[in-house]
Parts: sequence; C-alpha cells; structure tokens
Amino acid sequence: MSVPIIRSLDALREMTAGWRSNGETVGVVPTMGALHQGHLSLVRAAREACDRVIVTIFVNPKQFNNPEDLENYPRTEEDDARKLEPFEVDAIYVPDGDTMYPKGFATNVSVEGLTDMLCGAARPGHFDGVATVVTKLFLQTQADQAFFGEKDFQQLQVVTRLAADLDIPITVVGCPTIREEDGLAMSSRNLLLSDRSRIKAPLLAQVMNDVAEALQNGAKMSDVAPNAEARLIAGGFNSVDYLEMRDGADLSILDDAKPKARLFAAAWLAGVRLIDNIAV
Ligand code: PAF
Repeated sequence: MSVPIIRSLDALREMTAGWRSNGETVGVVPTMGALHQGHLSLVRAAREACDRVIVTIFVNPKQFNNPEDLENYPRTEEDDARKLEPFEVDAIYVPDGDTMYPKGFATNVSVEGLTDMLCGAARPGHFDGVATVVTKLFLQTQADQAFFGEKDFQQLQVVTRLAADLDIPITVVGCPTIREEDGLAMSSRNLLLSDRSRIKAPLLAQVMNDVAEALQNGAKMSDVAPNAEARLIAGGFNSVDYLEMRDGADLSILDDAKPKARLFAAAWLAGVRLIDNIAV
C-alpha cells in the first residue's frame, strides 16, 4: 500500500494528535531522501520500537556549506516512497523550504564543543544547520524516539546533546552503519560516484580497518596516519579532510587506543566527499 505523503505542518500535527490521543508511540527517521539500505535499517528499527513511524525527507539547505553540493544532492522522492512501502510506514513528511524556514526565520541552534572538530571543522556551519533542522523536526513530529545511523557518528552525538540540553522529550537511538559487500559505508552520496570512482571507494574502509588493527596492536595514531593518508592518495583519492582517532564518548583526540576509541575519516574522491568511522 502506498504511504501517505504529508507536506504541511498542519496536516502532520492533525495526524500525530490522533495517534497521541489513542496512546500510540511515534518514531521518526529524519532523512534527506535518496534512501538506501542504511536508512531502511533505521526504518526497521523504528517499526520494531514504535506504534507509528514517520520518515521525513528534506534536503536541508542550511547544512550545506557549498552551493554546488546542495544542487547536486540526489533527489529521488518517488523512488523513496516506493522503497518505504514494504515497511508500512505511517507517513512520509516532505516539508518544503518555506514550511521549514518561513520568511523572517532567524533562529539558529548551535551545539558547542562537539562541533568544533572533524566535519565541523571541515564544513563550517554544517552542524548548526543540522542542529536547527533536527530540533524543528523533533518539535514538529513530537516523536517519542528518533533513529540515526552511526555512519554519521558526530551528527549522532550532536543531536543526542541538543535533545538533552533543550529538554526535548525524545530518545535518540543510534543504529549500526550498513555496508556494501566490499565494505563501503552506505551513503546517499555514493550515488554521485562514477563507475570508476565506485571501484576505488572501498579503499577508505580498507585503510581504516588496517589502521584500526595497527592501533589495537599498540601503534600510535601519529605514526600510522601519514602512511594511511598516502595509501588513499595513491589509490585515487584527491585529498583527506581528516583521519583521526577520537574518544567515542566526547570526541576528544587520541594518539593511543583505549576502550571506546573510534577512527574517523573524511576524504574526497573525484568531487565526492566520503566519510566513515569504525570502532578501534
Ligand atoms: O543525516 C541526514 O540525512 C541529515 O543530516 C539529517 C539528520 C536528516 C538532517 O537534515
């Protein structure tokens, strides 16, 4: 059965008010569309945990620091709706720009500290855009639980922080990264890779796994990072934004592995920025 597509906030509120008055719990899966198996694993988790499930699709201009990146971001609404049918999602919420940011919109949600490093340093303003739209989606849907992938680990930390700091009564649930058979982390951006780049892309996860193994065996990050970055460049990547080991709890930088350490990477391959993170 096709899933109802809701475009206005009034219609969304009417729908969720009905559910709430029946005592039903609501789960939300915020997305920017171009859905892949990673998103669908979040929908599955929401379906198992909540009575009602809303998937939101909004390509959020505020989180793009590069206009070309925003323009090229894949938009595949019909296909997305079709992919959601087997999950019996209760609504797909697809607000437009004016619904999310009406004329005169002047509020910015900014999470300090956690956003200074990694993608926050490489993409100025990105996490303010994410925090602002996610706060709005939490308040608009009034969901009980929200589902995010660990693939965007820093984003998961940021939204968990903002929900706690702003007393938004929602539980943020992190779900494991889903990978292609060759190890490439699933991402909507993978659609932008040419056939040639797609063959090179799994090198990122391979290099990260090798680095993680060396770190587990006692190597220091500062000793292994230069060679790992050189392998990426030799394998066809154009540049590396970062390759760092950080504490998975507070994202502080680490040189020696310890429990909860994670490896984070972002690298450019023929105009496409790929990110990934794994436990060390
Ligand atoms: O991860 C994403 O797709 C986006 O950053 C999100 C959480 C939907 C906010 O626009």
